[in-house]
Amino acid sequence: MKFFIDTANLAQIEEAEALGVLDGVTTNPSLMAKEGITGRNNILKHYVDICNLVEGDVSAEVIATDYEGIIKEGEELAELHDQIVVKVPMIKDGVKAIKYFSDKGIRTNCTLVFSSGQALLAAKAGATYVSPFIGRLDDISTDGLSLIQDIRTIYDNYGFQTEILAASVRHTMHVIECARIGADVMTGPLSAITGLLKHPLTDIGLAQFLADHKKGN
Ligand code: G3P
Repeated sequence: MKFFIDTANLAQIEEAEALGVLDGVTTNPSLMAKEGITGRNNILKHYVDICNLVEGDVSAEVIATDYEGIIKEGEELAELHDQIVVKVPMIKDGVKAIKYFSDKGIRTNCTLVFSSGQALLAAKAGATYVSPFIGRLDDISTDGLSLIQDIRTIYDNYGFQTEILAASVRHTMHVIECARIGADVMTGPLSAITGLLKHPLTDIGLAQFLADHKKGN
């Protein structure tokens, strides 16, 4: 399973990259605003800065919601850097744009996916990635992980190449369950990645090894 970090914070991206397990970055307009990145030029520069920090795919989201606007903005984003994946919302004009981008060889991430029907449409349109938001489904007392399972089954039934990018991952158990189900990618906060390191028996065992080593020297 690929690990993406879901942030526009350069320090956190650098920390995840330094761990050696990072495969890419996802961003969205809210994450860019959280870092105080505003204005078209600053936003475009920030995407390039992120691409220069990591080796993998970097999702950059369009703001336009009409077909022509999505195409114009998506082509501009795709030209920024060869690591850019154009993030397009799951709306009618978004699906049409994904098909257009797919035919032109521009990679896409279909975002704001909350049902298996939406995921099926994204795959039919040729999306590179589909992003089901599991945490936000959990937030409204719906099982986000069962959506990942349904999409896995549907994609496997027909051999769709669209990668399931589990998004809105909030914690380590989401990561582990996504891996168990067979999501292709997960994107989450740095804490969901570094949290995988932790086990009290590891800490206790290491302290014991070091203490015993000290006794013997
Ligand atoms: O980037 C999309 C998604 O991962 C957002 O997550 O935590 O805002 O629901 P969250």
